[in-house]
Amino acid sequence: MEAIRIERLSKTFSNGRKALDEIDLRVAPGEMVALIGASGSGKSTLLRHIAGFTASDAQPSQIAILGRPIQQNGRIVREVRSIRRDIGFVFQQFNLVNRLSVESNVLIGALARLPLWRRLTGRFPREERALSLAALNEVGIGDHARERAANLSGGQQQRAALARALVQRARIVLADEPIASLDPESSRRVMDMLRALNREHQLTVLVSLHQVDIAMQYCPRTIALRRGKVVYDGPSAALTPVLLKKLYGDDAHELLDASTPGEEHEQAADNLASHPPGGAPTGDNTPASTRYAFALKPAHSH
Ligand SMILES: Nc1ncnc2c1ncn2[C@@H]1O[C@H](COP(=O)(O)OP(=O)(O)O)[C@@H](O)[C@H]1O
Ligand SMILES: [Mg+2]
Repeated sequence: MEAIRIERLSKTFSNGRKALDEIDLRVAPGEMVALIGASGSGKSTLLRHIAGFTASDAQPSQIAILGRPIQQNGRIVREVRSIRRDIGFVFQQFNLVNRLSVESNVLIGALARLPLWRRLTGRFPREERALSLAALNEVGIGDHARERAANLSGGQQQRAALARALVQRARIVLADEPIASLDPESSRRVMDMLRALNREHQLTVLVSLHQVDIAMQYCPRTIALRRGKVVYDGPSAALTPVLLKKLYGDDAHELLDASTPGEEHEQAADNLASHPPGGAPTGDNTPASTRYAFALKPAHSH
């Protein structure tokens, strides 16, 4: 059974823009797959469809998560919430609740699994707290559990988002340009963590990336989108500059350039403004040797 199975998925926005065009894809459990493409190629739209946030065009189509349809023929299924429990979604802009502690943010991941009365009282069982602390330790930010999320650097916030997926006991992580707003060192740490979730917790990872070199470094397989179509699906190692030029023409430079595009420079500047040098930490001082000290027990099986 596939972790993600997509059949004939198309999406036309109300303005007539065809963002996804007859996508067929299968991702096996335990794979770590990169989704690449220039801005506007449909990466976010595809990930949002897989998570059941957006409904496709009303033609025969299907997206199934671990064998269970999450949407079909343009309709999101009624049990979408229960299916979404298996999916951890990581956003470019971190998406933590800024005024809550890091630990509370991670515990939000457990909410879907808890009975209603626990959710209403806001009291978490001791084992959930232990699980969230272990997850925070695992991603290297256990020392920051009691801090407000807003006080963490971008890279630390993104690792908290990964801890939340672990606490949720997600089986699949969909990450939409999780490193696009981060400096290279923080990017590397976040990608290392994603790889650890993949290898040590057997999570299936589908991560959209702007840059091919990161895809090649971390993901054995790359799916390349162009104008809503899959133009390449195969080994990342085969994505040579020549092939990219063939697939993307003049857009290829956007995927090959080591520098980030203008839009993301602005975001980096924003991050710097909210974490000025000498103010809140922008780096991470956790020794690498302690980062994997706490191993969570494997998530529930299907
Ligand atoms: N809500 C929307 N309404 C209309 N067009 C949209 C909407 N969201 C995305 N698009 C368009 O769909 C295309 C794919 O967008 P997107 O999935 O965000 O691409 P990417 O994430 O690869 O940059 C783009 O042309 C974009 O402008
Ligand atoms: Mg996007």
